[in-house]
Amino acid sequence: MSYPYQLKSLEEYKKAYKESIESPETFWSNIAETFVWKKKWDKVLEWNFIEPKIEWFRGAQLNITENCIDRHLATIGEEPAIIWEPNNPEERTRIVTYNRLHKRVCQVAQMLKNNGVKKGDRVCIYMGMVPELAYAVLGCARIGAIHSVIFGGFSAQSIADRLEDAQAEFIITCDGAFRGNKDIPLKSVIDDALIGNKTVKKVIVYTRTRTPVSMLKGRDLWWEDEMEHAETQVEKDGVVSFPAEPMNAEDTLFILYTSGSTGKPKGVVHTQAGYMVWANYTFVNVFQYQPGQVHFCTADIGWITGHSYIVYGPLSAGGISLMFEGIPTWPDAGRFWDIVDKHQVNILYTAPTAIRSLMGFGLEYLNGKDLSSLKVLGSVGEPINEEAWNWFHKNIGKENCPIVDTWWQTETGGVMISNLAGVTPQKPAHATLPLPGIDPVLVDENGNVIEGNSVSGNLCIRHPWPGMIRTTYGDHERCRTNYFATYPNMYFTGDGCLRDEDGNYRITGRVDDVLNVSGHRIGTAEVENAINMHSGVVESAVVGYPHDIKGQGIYAYVIYENTHGDENLTRQDIMQTVSRIIGPIAKPDKIQFVKGLPKTRSGKIMRRILRKIAEGEISNLGDTSTLLDPNVVDEIKNGSLIS
Ligand code: PRX
Repeated sequence: MSYPYQLKSLEEYKKAYKESIESPETFWSNIAETFVWKKKWDKVLEWNFIEPKIEWFRGAQLNITENCIDRHLATIGEEPAIIWEPNNPEERTRIVTYNRLHKRVCQVAQMLKNNGVKKGDRVCIYMGMVPELAYAVLGCARIGAIHSVIFGGFSAQSIADRLEDAQAEFIITCDGAFRGNKDIPLKSVIDDALIGNKTVKKVIVYTRTRTPVSMLKGRDLWWEDEMEHAETQVEKDGVVSFPAEPMNAEDTLFILYTSGSTGKPKGVVHTQAGYMVWANYTFVNVFQYQPGQVHFCTADIGWITGHSYIVYGPLSAGGISLMFEGIPTWPDAGRFWDIVDKHQVNILYTAPTAIRSLMGFGLEYLNGKDLSSLKVLGSVGEPINEEAWNWFHKNIGKENCPIVDTWWQTETGGVMISNLAGVTPQKPAHATLPLPGIDPVLVDENGNVIEGNSVSGNLCIRHPWPGMIRTTYGDHERCRTNYFATYPNMYFTGDGCLRDEDGNYRITGRVDDVLNVSGHRIGTAEVENAINMHSGVVESAVVGYPHDIKGQGIYAYVIYENTHGDENLTRQDIMQTVSRIIGPIAKPDKIQFVKGLPKTRSGKIMRRILRKIAEGEISNLGDTSTLLDPNVVDEIKNGSLIS
């Protein structure tokens, strides 16, 4: 496959950028021409940020799976689409060719159809990182069902909330998932999540761990049986087919839940055509992907990074996507490097938290590992600190590989600000320049645009791009208030940002009540709600603090009704509660018991003060005179030194 829109030099980038800002419609229609359409568009873009309403390629019809699979079959049908590396290195690697992927995706589509799933129905996918997860995602897309993948670390309660919000009718899961030395009982979590659920009709269970599961008659079905039956339907005389449903450009492709500053996760909605073009364009340009290269994105498909850079980006480009089931530190901290060596990985895309964690294990895990296949390294999810950047550059890239520091969000669908590997300049700890089509602006608290360089402000985007969020599922008003109401006529990212003397962007972190823990977004309100579920807790306030490995750690101030018992045991109990309500990723790193919280006279918690105390900056807490009871602060300060 060739990528006529791949930018090969700084000059080409500058030219494309200029065109994309001056005539976005011509720019994007030229790129869209290279995809497979069932019907071309009548209008490239229709938009306003007031409602908001964003429509790309209106009138067009397509199926994203024809772009990710069918169009490659004649040329690279027998080439790998997915290389799957199991959790246990002793187990066999699986190589899925495009032909095989086509067959499996057709089978899943048929299986869904056999079970009554129709275009527009919501299918929740809760699986470990097995190739069947990719088949499930693409099978949904094939028949036009809306997939909503939930990360395997989320609890039954979190799943229940998401099933309810999405009104999901169907679930695809596994008996269990292997992660390091753990075996996570996914089906049993689903069973708990389904207590009281009224919408889910069927649950399909893929066998991975052989963990005993209970199968409910009439509701639960085995993947293997259903797929076998579907195989006889989609394959006739050696020819495999399942018609790809014609989808309107703006039909929903998937919902992905993410945390915001309120207690309830939002179902971010992405649509067919714009998302496809954006995932592909950003993949091809940011990583400078060349046909035949092995692309290893270490994210889970439960997050947007996995959607865009394990599934849709690489496959739409006819690429080879390496999918890893396990974790970077098992059987030992050399696992990533073993995989790079074994599969001759060319592009490694990972998160700063993983880099920092592996740095901590020392260089011995690199001994004897051949990393010479690496051409491009990438970072995503949180600001990468210079120390981690330098370590990655020197020890993994051997100073030969550009590092792309890719800033983006679940809502943006794909990379927004990043250097293009080896094409535009890199600068440690800076995402650098916007991709073509992206018009970033910095604004002050009052919404005034801050011009010029060497400035900082809140990061907004001025014009729509194809991969942007269209709505929050079932609640369009929430989408408007969250992203489009803070600053008129702009999409507000929720991030703070610097623009340096050369115009490079450096993201400094969230400016709202959202934490970024190990590259995952967690709302402080969500964690507080979970802590407050613990029977002895009266009230709590959660803030972030700098954490060496996770980037940000979770610091909880808790008013507990009876602190006479063993405080440590109570802490464990509270952590357990959070883990059960949200999932282990949201467990507080520190819990400090307090008698009161710093509140203004109107009852608002002054998190600024709590943040400073959590950061250990107790000498300069700023103005506390507006507090209802300023004494509370001294008590918290003193307590922070011993907890
Ligand atoms: O704060 C930014 C941070 O992660 C947030 C988005 O989180 P999520 O939707 O979970 O998506 C993560 C993967 C795309 C952003 O608002 N973030 C992401 N990438 C970077 C980053 N912060 C700094 N530098 C990055 N490269």
